Amino acid sequence: MLRVRTVRASDMPAVVALDATVTGLHKAAYWQRVFKRYGNHGQGQRQFLVATLDEQVCGFVIGEVRDWEFGAPPCGWVFAIDVMPSARQLGVGARMLADLAARFRREGVDTLRTMTSSSNSLLQSFFRSQGMRAGHLLPLEMDLASWEPDYGDAAGELFA
Ligand SMILES: CC(C)(COP(=O)(O)OP(=O)(O)OC[C@H]1O[C@@H](n2cnc3c(N)ncnc32)[C@H](O)[C@@H]1OP(=O)(O)O)[C@@H](O)C(=O)NCCC(=O)NCCS
Repeated sequence: MLRVRTVRASDMPAVVALDATVTGLHKAAYWQRVFKRYGNHGQGQRQFLVATLDEQVCGFVIGEVRDWEFGAPPCGWVFAIDVMPSARQLGVGARMLADLAARFRREGVDTLRTMTSSSNSLLQSFFRSQGMRAGHLLPLEMDLASWEPDYGDAAGELFA
């Protein structure tokens, strides 16, 4: 039977293993920090949920209500969602997202946001199928490794 519930410490080895199947990296220390922030001290505004099929962890979703970020009213963010490859296309992802959305709604927010890699068409298909659409916020980024501060000519005279 499929169930969605708050993560427990005993679920973490399965979560780490599931993440490793997607990313190829075994990040136990990273996941302990995530558990501390979203699991142990989570609930309400911070959510870390797992899906279980016959008591075995087969997926997880993590999200948080963020206050007034990017000038927008508080809204729920989905940070990560993963379903074990052998349990995909059975409705597990949809059920976890619906559970997260319901919990966020109980927190009083009426918008759910996420970001995906532009090359992850699987995640995009999934989120679109659940009703998510391109929003009005546009992510911008720059490469800091090759960045040189440019203060402009006028500022250059000031700092000379
Ligand atoms: C995306 C993901 C969460 C979907 O989970 P899932 O349990 O398989 O999804 P569901 O069974 O609930 O599917 C819901 C809908 O998503 C869409 N979908 C799911 N898998 C799909 C696929 N392989 N191709 C196209 N659409 C797909 C479908 O519209 C589906 O509805 P349908 O079954 O009525 O066709 C899962 O494939 C996954 O974990 N992928 C890796 C995610 C990842 O890259 N995570 C790292 C960054 S956070």
